[in-house]
Parts: sequence; structure tokens; C-alpha cells
Amino acid sequence: MKLSKVVVLVFLVPVIIGIKEDKKYWLEVAEKELKDSLSYAWNTNKAKNIVLFVGDGMSSDTITASRIYRSGEDSYLAWERFPHIGLLKTYNVDKQAPDSASAATALFCGVKAKYNTHGVDANVALNDCEASVPTDNRVDSIINWAQAAGKSTGFVTTTRVTHATPAPLYAHGPNRKWECESTMPIEESNCKDIARQLIENEPGKNIKVIMGGGRQMLQTVVNTTESDPIDTWAGRRRDGRNLISDWMADKKSRKASFSVVQNNEELAEINYDKIDFLLGIFANGHIPMDYKRDNGTNGQPSLEEMTVAALKILKKSNNGFLLVVEGGLIDFAHHRGHAAQALLETVRFSDAINATLGMINAEETLVIVTSDHTHSLAFNGNSRRGSDILGIAEDSKFDKIPYTTLSYSTGGPNNLAYEVSNNKSVRKNPNENDTTQFTYSQQAAIITDEAHHGGGDVAVYALGPYAHLLHTTHEQNFVPYVVAYAAKIGPYANSSSTSNKWSLIFIGNFLVLFTIFYTAI
Ligand SMILES: *[C@@H]1O[C@H](CO)[C@@H](O)[C@H](O)[C@H]1NC(C)=O
Ligand SMILES: *[C@@H]1O[C@H](CO)[C@@H](O)[C@H](O)[C@H]1NC(C)=O
Ligand SMILES: *[C@@H]1O[C@H](CO)[C@@H](O)[C@H](O)[C@H]1NC(C)=O
Ligand SMILES: *[C@@H]1O[C@H](CO)[C@@H](O)[C@H](O)[C@H]1NC(C)=O
Ligand SMILES: *[C@@H]1O[C@H](CO)[C@@H](O)[C@H](O)[C@H]1NC(C)=O
Ligand SMILES: *[C@@H]1O[C@H](CO)[C@@H](O)[C@H](O)[C@H]1NC(C)=O
Ligand SMILES: [Zn+2]
Repeated sequence: MKLSKVVVLVFLVPVIIGIKEDKKYWLEVAEKELKDSLSYAWNTNKAKNIVLFVGDGMSSDTITASRIYRSGEDSYLAWERFPHIGLLKTYNVDKQAPDSASAATALFCGVKAKYNTHGVDANVALNDCEASVPTDNRVDSIINWAQAAGKSTGFVTTTRVTHATPAPLYAHGPNRKWECESTMPIEESNCKDIARQLIENEPGKNIKVIMGGGRQMLQTVVNTTESDPIDTWAGRRRDGRNLISDWMADKKSRKASFSVVQNNEELAEINYDKIDFLLGIFANGHIPMDYKRDNGTNGQPSLEEMTVAALKILKKSNNGFLLVVEGGLIDFAHHRGHAAQALLETVRFSDAINATLGMINAEETLVIVTSDHTHSLAFNGNSRRGSDILGIAEDSKFDKIPYTTLSYSTGGPNNLAYEVSNNKSVRKNPNENDTTQFTYSQQAAIITDEAHHGGGDVAVYALGPYAHLLHTTHEQNFVPYVVAYAAKIGPYANSSSTSNKWSLIFIGNFLVLFTIFYTAI
């Protein structure tokens, strides 16, 4: 049975058993919320561990629609009841709506950047290789900060490990498309492609867990299958290097224990007690959309399975860890106007968070869930409570043609809503298709190349030490400062020892005064 059909049944239950949502009911709901809210206490422990989740393109309307899709209007996704929540302004240095690379630079490095650049500041314009080389124009990430504090670090993503969101964690460059050498202009030899920065440079080579897709950026791919094709939207490595072998050689030379896994069978065979470094590359391009992912032995793990594997390794660190998890395909589904795929990817992102909450101690682990930018999904009104979120809302009062609850403001040719009939432009009847199918593209008002990012604020949810620092409308680049302050890393690496120093001075002065006083009597 489809998830959304289950939802409808769940909603009929109160009606069937006669629960009325009258004033008594809502008063009780509100009283419970009040009790919960009054019970929240600020956690000012030092954050030993940090887990930062980014749902790419996960606008607030995407969260609402995914919640309804999964379990109905009154349910919550795994992170929605975190005690602290704020909003992030996502504009970057030169655009009102950012791309993923510049937004991730704000989220991970604390500095807003120009569109399509990563790990650099506003001194670097798109494609300006020369400006991206000096360290003055580069920015460190939370991975650098965590490693400098002796923490284990890792990231997992459903996209290529070299893609726009993870890139600023470990790479610096003037164009997010420079994932491998073949996409870079020949004359830009002072710049290193993103994949080589991950494998050869710091902090990439010191990252304990790297998991996602992107084999075509790391080596010359010879094997492709129907379920694991080459992504022809992106480049592929052609210089003969095998960066997976290079990664292994580096770990071997350091006498570290490591494992490279490329499918579910290999992932299942890992001996977590014995492994310190893990490289999991499960697809040539991005990991396939969850609805068509091959979950068999030769196939790919879910985001939840990758996250759990990463935590098993990182939790071994006595100094704590920092893990970044990206649900990267929410954005891809939206770009193609595939609402059903976007909602399922968001539910899978929630599953990864739910599993994480069962594996960490929130007294000492800061968990943040946010997004990099909004998207063009619109949640249209007037459908009945309990309706299939992917279905029809009602008939248009203008032309009597039905419209769907979810549509897009911008979209590509597959979202085209109008056709010409008798020399008139008329909207297509969405009832001619099954609008709940994963392959259906919802109608868009404006047709361009594809559905575009939105420029609205994104929500940020937090749990654990110093989660309360996220509490109002913030700039997006505030998030890594919260991480740094809570964990005493990066710009706040010495702040706890500073307070120790002050207390020592205080005790010292007290002793001096006491001695003077004592001597005096
Ligand atoms: C989280 O996982 C628990 C245990 O598997 C399950 O009972 C619960 O429904 C899940 N919650 C969400 C929001 O996924
Ligand atoms: C291609 O697949 C074959 C058979 O599974 C395997 O032995 C070989 O190592 C693969 N080659 C590469 C470059 O991955
Ligand atoms: C793989 O997916 C199928 C179909 O959704 C499901 O029945 C099966 O339990 C899954 N297997 C694993 C190992 O997750
Ligand atoms: C459509 O409009 C064109 C130009 O105005 C006209 O020549 C043609 O007859 C019209 N066709 C119909 C079916 O009304
Ligand atoms: C609707 O179905 C038709 C026939 O299968 C298909 O060609 C078309 O692409 C579908 N439209 C959308 C928007 O998915
Ligand atoms: C913290 O102290 C160390 C050692 O004195 C120093 O090298 C480092 O630069 C300091 N970090 C910050 C952010 O002040
Ligand atoms: Zn994005």
C-alpha cells in the first residue's frame, strides 16, 4: 500500500472512533505543548560531538508536505520537535537566492561567498582561479576546526562526494563544476580539481569517513550498469589517475586501518572495531533516487545506512567527532519538478536523523538540522484535511480545470502546464495523469530550463549543547559559529581555557587577599 493511502486511513481513525476535535481537544493539545515548552532547560555543556544535517533545497513547505506524506497533518518528522529553532537568511554575496556551493560555504565555513564558488570569500569571482589560490582568500571549514581539536570527522551524502554541498568542507575553488580535471580549463593549472583536493590535501585526507557517490570523478570508470550509469550532466575523470587507490596508498603509508567499500555487500562486511578510515563510493554519479535505488548486494545503501555506518566509526573517538550528513537529492527532485521524489527523499532524510538520535547522547552532542536554500515548490490551498498531498486540491474557479495541491512556481519543459487548443492556450488537466507517481512532474507557472532555487529563509532546528543559540532570524553563516562556540573549536578553540585562566587568576587573587587579611590579624 502506498504511504499516502495509509495516511488517509490514519486520518479516518479519529472520525471512526468518534474523537471530536472540539475546544476541549485543542485545549489539551495546547496544554501539553505548554508543559513541554516550560520544561526546556538550556544545555550549556561543552559539545563533545556535533552532527550537522543539511536537507538540500528543503524549504519549509517541503518539510510540511513531507510530514503529511509520511504520517498526516498532525505528525512530525524526526527533527521537528527539537527544542530550539531559528530562521536563516540564505542570500549570498551576489544573489538573492544562493546556489548550493556558496550556501554550504556559509553553513560550514562561516563566510558568505559568491554564486557557484566554494571554500573562498568574496574576493574570489566565478572562474577566477588566481584569486582562489592565496590562503587569505580561502576559508577553513568546521572539518578543519574539529580536526585541529583532535576530533574525528566525516561526511556522508546522497550526491557525489565532490558535489557542491560537501565541497566547501575540504576544498577551495572559483567554480563548483571543477569536480575533476576534465571540467577545468587547461590553462588553470594553478588550481586543483575538487576530487584531488579531497584525496590529497588537508583536511580531506584526514577525514575518517567519506561516503556517497561520485566514482566518475575519482577514477576512469569502465564499468557501468543500467542502475549505475555515468552522469552525463557532469564531467568525468580522464587523466588516468585513480584517486581511490591514492587514498588507500596514503592510509597504508600512515599505517592506518582502512576500508574501501563500493556496494551493500562490502558495506555489510565491515569490521567496525578494526577500521579507522572508511571510503564508501557507491555510484558513478549521484546515488540513485530512493524510489529506484537498488538495495540488493550490488546496490547502494540508504542515507540512514550510511549515517549509521559513519557513526559506528566516529563514535570510537575519545575526543569526540563531527559528522555532516547531506540529503542531497531533495534538491534534484525539485529541480525536475518531481514532488513525490522530493517528499520521499525528505522522509529518508528524517529516517537518517531518527536513527542518529538513537545512537547519540544529546547531553554532549549538538545536533543541527537545516537546509541550504528553499525551492520553487508551492503548497496550494483548499484541499480537504487528510487528502493525498500529491493529489488534486479542487477545480480552478477560473477555468474549471482541476489543480494539484503541490505545484511549482518555476519549472522545466516537463512541468509545462499549458497547451494550445482552438488557438487558445488552456491548462492541461492534471487528472489525465496519476499525479502521485514518482515520475509525474507537477505543473509550473513559469517555464524556464528547470525549477529554480527559492530565496526564502530556511528553518534551523537544534538539540543539545548550546542549541538555544539558534533562536531568531540569523544570517546563514552564523551556524558554524554556534558549532565552534558549543564545541570550543575553531575561532573559540581557546575560550574554555580562557575562562579557566580567569578562574585561576580569581583564585590566585583570593589567596593573596586572604593571606594579607590573615597576616593583618
Ligand atoms: C523513530 O524510530 C523509532 C524506532 O524505530 C520509531 O518507533 C519511530 O516511529 C521513529 N520516528 C520517526 C519520526 O521516524
Ligand atoms: C569492473 O567490474 C569487474 C567485475 O565486477 C571488476 O572485477 C573490476 O575490478 C571492475 N573494474 C573497475 C575499474 O572498477
Ligand atoms: C529492499 O527493498 C524491498 C522493496 O522495497 C524491500 O521489500 C526489502 O526489504 C529491501 N531489502 C533490504 C535489505 O533493505
Ligand atoms: C487560429 O488563428 C489563426 C491566425 O489568427 C487563424 O488564421 C486560424 O484560422 C485560427 N484557427 C482556428 C482553428 O481558429
Ligand atoms: C502524463 O502522461 C503522459 C502519457 O503517459 C506522459 O507522456 C506525460 O509525460 C505525463 N505528464 C507528466 C507531466 O508527467
Ligand atoms: C589557541 O591557542 C593555540 C596555542 O596557544 C594557538 O596556536 C591558536 O592559534 C589559538 N587559537 C585561537 C583561535 O585563538
Ligand atoms: Zn542546494
